[in-house]
Amino acid sequence: MTANELRQKYLDFFKSKNHAMISSASLIPENDPTVLFTTAGMHPLVPYLLGEKHPAGNRLTNSQKCIRTGDIDEVGDATHHTFFEMMGNWSLGDYFKKDSINFSWEFLTSSEWLNLNKNRLAVSVFQGDEDALYDEEAYKIWQEIFSQNNIPEARIAKLPKKNNWWGPAGTTGPCGPDTEIFYWVGDVDKVPESFNDDNDLWVEIWNNVFMQYNKNAEGVFELLKKPNVDTGLGLERVLAIINGKSDNYQTELFRGLINKIEALSHKKYGESPEVDKAMRITADHIKAATFIIGDDRGITPSNTDQGYVLRRLIRRAIRYGRQLGIEEVLWTKQIAQEAIFIYQNIYSELEKNKNLILETLDKEEEKFSRTLVQGEKEFMKWAITGSESAGLIPGEVAFNLFQSYGYPLEMTIEMAKEYGKEVDVTAFEIEFKKHQDLSRTASAGKFKGGLADASEETTKLHTAAHLLLAALRKVLGDGVTQKGSNITAERLRFDFSYSEKMTAEQIKETEDLVNGAIAADFPVICEELSLEEAKNRGAMGVFDSKYGERVKVYTASKLLADGSPDTNNAFSQEICGGPHVNNTGILGKFKIQKEESSSSGVRRIKAILE
Ligand code: SER
Repeated sequence: MTANELRQKYLDFFKSKNHAMISSASLIPENDPTVLFTTAGMHPLVPYLLGEKHPAGNRLTNSQKCIRTGDIDEVGDATHHTFFEMMGNWSLGDYFKKDSINFSWEFLTSSEWLNLNKNRLAVSVFQGDEDALYDEEAYKIWQEIFSQNNIPEARIAKLPKKNNWWGPAGTTGPCGPDTEIFYWVGDVDKVPESFNDDNDLWVEIWNNVFMQYNKNAEGVFELLKKPNVDTGLGLERVLAIINGKSDNYQTELFRGLINKIEALSHKKYGESPEVDKAMRITADHIKAATFIIGDDRGITPSNTDQGYVLRRLIRRAIRYGRQLGIEEVLWTKQIAQEAIFIYQNIYSELEKNKNLILETLDKEEEKFSRTLVQGEKEFMKWAITGSESAGLIPGEVAFNLFQSYGYPLEMTIEMAKEYGKEVDVTAFEIEFKKHQDLSRTASAGKFKGGLADASEETTKLHTAAHLLLAALRKVLGDGVTQKGSNITAERLRFDFSYSEKMTAEQIKETEDLVNGAIAADFPVICEELSLEEAKNRGAMGVFDSKYGERVKVYTASKLLADGSPDTNNAFSQEICGGPHVNNTGILGKFKIQKEESSSSGVRRIKAILE
């Protein structure tokens, strides 16, 4: 079965259960400062999981592109990835545990669908703790299914929060107990009687989360008015299993990349565990970098936030490539080309942004190749002779490697480990802070911060961001599009496409336009439209839908006599999930505090409401 067939089968199955298909959202989350990337299919759906109405209905399904850096140390084994696709289905206050579990079972085991061997399956459920009760309901549903199918009950495990609780994706948001489904990838006649979490031959394939809670900014688990279901099935893992492959890198989603790495390094996949690991990391990281740069809200390597993660992925891949013996220069783009080829029909943005992807990789590789070798020499002085520091690489050395040789901290830590040493991270951070303002930098390990709840202040700033985009297009021209935004309760940060620094007059004019729209006290109206209608009307937004789905459009404008927004003369119209204020008049005074470069061709504005 090909990946395309598997994806389609999943969507068809849930369509047959009355789910509406929605498209994959961007990898760069909007309006959620608590995470850098979309880490799961539920992430773009947070407002709906918290109770907002979704225009496509209350049963949804899709395949979502995801980036996870939390598992980065496990990448290199057979089943973990930085970039992966998650097939998902959601019930927004509609069906709950019984249907959810039965849908999963039917899709996995029915001969009409995946027809997996039932005897290779096991599950786990939440055992309960001080925050939430033991999930007896899920246990009983599985018990019935397992007994009907003569599967030992010991294959249902009760596990703690560490295993069977999911979310929130960032620091706040929807979460709840989950039930996980595992597949035995060992010998078919050696399936253990009971499920054991420590055995890697049990591979987790599906996670069904029963979202009953919202974790708020105070860390309290509030019960949601309506409980939801959020599930995620790993495409790469299931593809490997169905095709009888012992690891995901042997499936068509990786094989082209591995072949290219073999050709460049003159080594063979499978020749040793070290070679396998290095090839897997190289393939995984360059694929992830390809998707991050190629996203429609894509970003380029930098020293903060997503740009830093991207830089770290590319540089780590280059280092592993060197270890494999790749001598060619500007080789990473050759691997990226393979990834673009594999996904071009599903994620058309990769083909569309191909030149940008290849050029960005070239530039980053060029930059790092110049300092990689010198940096290695510098590092080795400490790795081998640094016994005076008792196994600790001083923070100043790690900082110098970062500052002068472009070594991401995590890479130095990893190299140190290879020599049985540790990096003095605290000293690194002190050094780092001396040099720059680092309250939110990824390098210091502070991926999380700010608020992501729909507090009044964030909602106001969110509406202000819409007014800002509309004003920028009036001042700088229609070529301006949004490249990203990040909103906390204190300020908004807004990235947009424009290649020059804005003049003081342009900044003032933009502020005046936004303040004019605030003074006009425009109603902010939310309508549900088809994507086509939204587009024809000139609404801003990302038009990447493939399924003719319905979207929400927020319009800030005067009203016509019939009470509908005057869309021909609207100040701002944007496709957006919300939430927004009802009238612009309550926003206060809009002020741009900073206008600066974000990356090549992208400017960044920081603004507040006073
Ligand atoms: N959000 C859950 C997960 O990521 C289910 O999709 O595992």
